[in-house]
Amino acid sequence: MTFFDRPVLAIESSCDETSAAVIDGRRVLSSVIASQVEMHRKWGGVVPEAAARAHVEAITPVIEEALQQAGNPNIGGIAVTNRPGLVGALSVGLTAAKALSMSWKAPLVGVHHLEGHLLSICADLNGEELPSYPMLALVVSGGHTELVWIETPGEYRLLGQTLDDAAGEAFDKGARLLGLGYPGGYAVQEAAVGGNAKRYSLPRALAKDPLNFSFSGLKTAMYRLVEKEGAALDKRDAAASLQEAIVDVLSKKAMSAIEEFGAASFGLVGGVAANKPLRERLRDGCRKRGVAFHVPDFSLCTDNAAMIGVAGSLRLAQGIRDSYDLDALPNAPLPGSGGA
Ligand code: KG4
Ligand code: ZN
Repeated sequence: MTFFDRPVLAIESSCDETSAAVIDGRRVLSSVIASQVEMHRKWGGVVPEAAARAHVEAITPVIEEALQQAGNPNIGGIAVTNRPGLVGALSVGLTAAKALSMSWKAPLVGVHHLEGHLLSICADLNGEELPSYPMLALVVSGGHTELVWIETPGEYRLLGQTLDDAAGEAFDKGARLLGLGYPGGYAVQEAAVGGNAKRYSLPRALAKDPLNFSFSGLKTAMYRLVEKEGAALDKRDAAASLQEAIVDVLSKKAMSAIEEFGAASFGLVGGVAANKPLRERLRDGCRKRGVAFHVPDFSLCTDNAAMIGVAGSLRLAQGIRDSYDLDALPNAPLPGSGGA
């Protein structure tokens, strides 16, 4: 695996974090994230138009800060998330990236957001070694729940995915029903500490379809539970039961995929990879099966530009360049998967 031999500026603005990072090879020199969580909290979710406007305000100071923290190196390439995501939000990062690429005469490369998450494991933040490939990866975030076979970075095969809600959405919607606030994942994890996960029985969908996921039934079951129990609902036990329902399904399916595909290396990535019980369950399952377990540092689980820089550095080293026609796309297949 060869990474670009010059520092890369990376920009990420696909959803509600404005982020910039400087990567040298796969070493993270700086990583700056301006979160819009506070702003979106009052609406209980991301409002696309407001997100785009907030990116416009944050993008320049965030890039300046990332360059400064990295010691203002001579930038040799620019990586930017151009797909998939909210088009208005993506366009802000993309426009900044094109402008800087033009003025610095540095090559531009567009990165698929999911490839960024998948390669977050390759970032050298604190001296981490490169993982071994092929790898089976589980991407779990607010917008994604996918099992991906990574033959080698750049070559991906989608094995299974959610048929409706993403795992992060299940946390977020459940948290909202329990009155735990937004974003829900961390709030559920905290509220569940010491709770009885067996107290409330919640569904585990698609037991007979091992590679795909479905979380909409869980959302409905949570709604019914909250309505039925009313004031008698024990929030701590309900949060623990919800978390267990999600962790149980994700880890069982991941383990059965490891066995089916004979994976020797497993990666857990995306915002929900910050969930401690999920990390522990999967680490344990991998240890029992003699499979190498990889998970990024907490700071690289939720959206960040450092992971985009790692993916971009790899693509730039392969000689891949994008023109200024590069578009922001709401949906796009993973690269190297037979799609775009
Ligand atoms: O990767 P990410 O920042 O954005 C997307 O690409 O979607 O993931 C955000 C998701 C949210 O749904 C949030 O609730 C979830 O990650 N999340 C967690 C935890 N921290 C963030 N879910 C469970 N436990 C956590 N500790
Ligand atoms: Zn993400």
